[in-house]
Amino acid sequence: MARVVDESLYEKADADPLAFWAEMAQELEWIAPWTDVLRWNTPDAEWFVDGKINASANCLDRHVASGLRNRAAIIWEGEPGDERTLTYWDMLREVSKFANGLKSLGVRKGDRVAIYMPMVPELPIAMLACARIGAIHSVIFAGFSADSLVDRISDAKAKAIITADAGWRRGNKLPLKAIVDDALDNPDTNSVEHVVVYQRDTTPLGDLAWNSDRDVWWHDLVANMSFHCRPEPTNAEDVLFILYTSGTTGKPKGIVHTTGGYMVGTYATAKYVFDLRDDDVFWCTADCGWVTGHSYIVYGPMANGVTQIMYEGAPDWPKRDRFWRIIEKYGVSIFYTAPTAIRAFMKWGNEWPDARDLSSLRLLGSVGEPINPEAWVWYHEVIGGRSSPIVDTWWQTETGAIMITPLPGAVTTKPGSATRAFPGIQAEVLTPDGETVETGGGLLAIRDPWPSMLRGIWGDRERFVSTYWSKWPHTYFPGDGAKRDDDGYFWILGRVDDVINTAGHRIGTMEVESALVDHPAVAEAAVVGIEHEIKGIAIAAFVLLREAHEHDEDLEQTLKDHVAQKIGAIAKPEKVLIAVDLPKTRSGKIMRRLLRDVAEGHALGDTTTLADPSVVARLKTEYESIEG
Ligand code: WTA
Repeated sequence: MARVVDESLYEKADADPLAFWAEMAQELEWIAPWTDVLRWNTPDAEWFVDGKINASANCLDRHVASGLRNRAAIIWEGEPGDERTLTYWDMLREVSKFANGLKSLGVRKGDRVAIYMPMVPELPIAMLACARIGAIHSVIFAGFSADSLVDRISDAKAKAIITADAGWRRGNKLPLKAIVDDALDNPDTNSVEHVVVYQRDTTPLGDLAWNSDRDVWWHDLVANMSFHCRPEPTNAEDVLFILYTSGTTGKPKGIVHTTGGYMVGTYATAKYVFDLRDDDVFWCTADCGWVTGHSYIVYGPMANGVTQIMYEGAPDWPKRDRFWRIIEKYGVSIFYTAPTAIRAFMKWGNEWPDARDLSSLRLLGSVGEPINPEAWVWYHEVIGGRSSPIVDTWWQTETGAIMITPLPGAVTTKPGSATRAFPGIQAEVLTPDGETVETGGGLLAIRDPWPSMLRGIWGDRERFVSTYWSKWPHTYFPGDGAKRDDDGYFWILGRVDDVINTAGHRIGTMEVESALVDHPAVAEAAVVGIEHEIKGIAIAAFVLLREAHEHDEDLEQTLKDHVAQKIGAIAKPEKVLIAVDLPKTRSGKIMRRLLRDVAEGHALGDTTTLADPSVVARLKTEYESIEG
């Protein structure tokens, strides 16, 4: 039986949302109690005012003290097949030692620590060690480039960076430390005083560069450290972490989350959405470099004391059944992944999951992008054996925790719909003017503050206010389109701004455009999202070349690789189209909507506002001739 089997949780939260959140908060351990649940002065929220709480103590010490000390916290599998299991007590000791190590390097409360690591247990250990001493972590996905590291390190003025010599991906070693070295050659990163390097690779180190004034091995740092470290009594509103995500400009924004509200939001949603129980084996396949890994590998599940699986590598390594083997081997009961992955599994064929015993599964989850009904049904039938409910969870880096989702056992699902707002969350669909849409399409909106909401954009108050809080009074604008059906269910339609959600990852069109114009051949670029069978949306780039530049055959590939090298492989365009002109309004704004029509082969939309209407027709002809 699922924990929530009726409407009671919704009714309780509707009747008094603040009392509901306070009740959730009471289940965590506070060092000092709060005075008020919420102080709200749009757009500034203070939750659990004056309360003191430590995030790592809630994820570790609380369980060690309550008898779960020898429960497996993380069962880890490396891509090459190595295995480790860490109990809650192991985690507490490792986190404490590393926290003491950070202190010995001079890292203090409020300092920023960048983390650039493969999916090894030391990644959550590093995050929790920062939380333990009140340092602010900024995890940077290990697929990002040296340039992306520079942007993020310099924006946050990180004092230390934690990395590894290598990480495994599809049988290859990612040279993470070498990429960090590249980034640190840039004077914009001179805030960094220390680089801590976890040794993932046991083969001889070859030409790993080492700067002994700055670099220290993880194992040397912790060698003589005590495994006791008092958790810092952080304020509920002290910053827990910064996580960079793409927006509509070329510069990623550092989303700021604080401690108390974030812990309450992730704890409560993990507990109720995944219906966590003592004997569960929970597996969220995200990377800790994204918010999903922060909230549903590290903080939410660990605050609930659940056992979870962590896997380092690719789903198709060495074969396309790696995930199903892991589920079979460890008896995974809850599996949380992204629609992109599900569509890839579908394409790879049923023989892979069919050959494995997946009967331990009892609940499936989806996150990161809209799930098409066909993928939903396949997931339900082939992976869930028709018996596991699916929770399609809508949320964002900014929301910190799941916002719209079914609760298993309480909400009847419909393939492709994220269904209802989580108890205590007031979601709506509005028109651009702020009128409520009861049924039909519009813009998704969140009315009232919620505990795990972002508290700002690091160092950019103006952008925080204008991006999220300027569309409607006192209402949060997430940037997604949505519709409501006759039952009031939400159907998320995707981004309505210049952010592309490709393969479940957010990339700003401007980021890719600036990477393209950084190439000497490119004068101008315009990037759009186009439909894609596996990725949901893929990146298509239209580029104008500099006059002097000859268009050679490899140029499209060269430009794709250039973007991958500037930003990271996730931003690599699916298509690059060399154009002679771009459609612009009379005020010079590129009309991406028209480019999307061209790239997807649709009939052309309204061209009346174009400065030169013939441009699109010409582009279309060129594009069709290339597509053949
Ligand atoms: C999209 C990921 C439809 C949405 C947790 C949002 C979804 C963006 C869903 C946030 C879903 C996330 N259905 N779309 N269940 N979940 N999205 O910040 O466009 O990486 O704005 O957070 O992903 O992406 P982010």
